Amino acid sequence: MEIRQFIEWARVRGTLVEIERAVDPYLELASITAARDGQPVLYHRLKGFAAWRAVTGVCAQREYFAAALNCTVATLIQRLADAMAHPLPPPLVRSAPCQEVVETRVDLTQLPIPRYHPADGGRYITAGVAVIKDPDYGRNSSFHRLMLLDERRFAARIVEGRGTHTAWSKISTPLPVAIAIGCPLQVLLAAAMSPPKGVDELEIAHALAPTPLVTCQSVDLEVPAEAELILEGHITHTLADEGPFPDLTGTMDIVRRQPVVEIDRITHRREPIFHALLPGGLEHKNLMGMPREPTIFAAVNEVCQCTGVYITPGGTSWLHAVVQINKQHEDDGKRAIEAAFRGHTSLKHVVVVDTDVNIFDIHDVEWAIATRFQADRDLVVLTDQPGSSLDPSAVQAAGQKARTAKMGLDATAPLGQARRGYERVTYSPVPE
Ligand SMILES: Cc1cc2nc3c(=O)[nH]c(=O)nc-3n(C[C@H](O)[C@H](O)[C@H](O)COP(=O)(O)O)c2cc1C
Repeated sequence: MEIRQFIEWARVRGTLVEIERAVDPYLELASITAARDGQPVLYHRLKGFAAWRAVTGVCAQREYFAAALNCTVATLIQRLADAMAHPLPPPLVRSAPCQEVVETRVDLTQLPIPRYHPADGGRYITAGVAVIKDPDYGRNSSFHRLMLLDERRFAARIVEGRGTHTAWSKISTPLPVAIAIGCPLQVLLAAAMSPPKGVDELEIAHALAPTPLVTCQSVDLEVPAEAELILEGHITHTLADEGPFPDLTGTMDIVRRQPVVEIDRITHRREPIFHALLPGGLEHKNLMGMPREPTIFAAVNEVCQCTGVYITPGGTSWLHAVVQINKQHEDDGKRAIEAAFRGHTSLKHVVVVDTDVNIFDIHDVEWAIATRFQADRDLVVLTDQPGSSLDPSAVQAAGQKARTAKMGLDATAPLGQARRGYERVTYSPVPE
């Protein structure tokens, strides 16, 4: 679903917030987005950028993805798992909306790139999907925040060991890159996944929903034809300071020396819409957490019957998960804990519950902990484990995986006769 179709869908449904007055991309847009977190907001006028509109909150609810993929929220995880298992090569088109306008001169300062927080290192692109080609593994698409340096350059945050970094490290010349902004929802979702090396995220996107591609004008790369804005250029081997910038956790990320990206060409749609993503907001959380649910599900399913996984927004949609199992053996809960940590290596705390507990309701999960869990019997604590670079409380060392403690709570009830005292009392419905 193109971002424009999504905006129309939200408008018809009555959930779109439309702001007609001119909004300043310098801090004001971020304030409004934060106050409206969870809702899609269309900014009709931007101070200083007459040609542009902006949108936020496109991925802020699971319902939006379900609408884009024509499925239910309950079947989303299965859809993601299926698309990852069966990617489809997208068709290449000759003319594309994202190339309707070719800017005659590259001047990035003329794009409505917001500043989100006064302490930020600069103006930031946050919803840019960077497409590159790895000489061995082929095309790779992933998110990289971009801090504006000047008319032609950004500093890009490129996390070590992931697809873009691997390709960039292999070659001594600048790595061609195309950054797509305002992408269809299935592209945003696919770019947030970490499939095995060699699996193309744009093929996953096309398996989720039709995703035509177009060839770039100045680099040998293909990009989603229906994106709003394309920046073509190279990731150089020059480094510059990147940050500080708010992270997924809602805490401030540090300044690092990161690769400089040089842009040689800008193309976009007519009457373009700029997609801005609030760092640490629900849109960021959904995109990070949801794609990890199928990988935890698959890992837990290898050791027992997994019936649901929820990566909770309270746990920054990255560090905490609730896993639901259909318990068949007394040790299934503990085995599920170990498997969940294998399924998402950045996971720090996990709670395992039975099928009668609603994993999406934090009160229900807490009820299971309160009534079914004993710390000296059901708690698993692991020390000095590989952890998340996003966790400020983990031990962070430059160039190395963070180290952390991990905790799993087996909040499942015992099996057999012993289970009787653990069943929840339900009252009969009110008579008509
Ligand atoms: C909204 C959002 C922003 C992200 N920002 C960055 C970033 O700035 N740098 C980075 O290296 N990864 C970032 N990521 C994570 C990568 O896109 C993600 O891990 C991706 O799946 C990596 O895939 P790969 O290993 O195939 O490259 C971000 C993810 C999301 C959803």
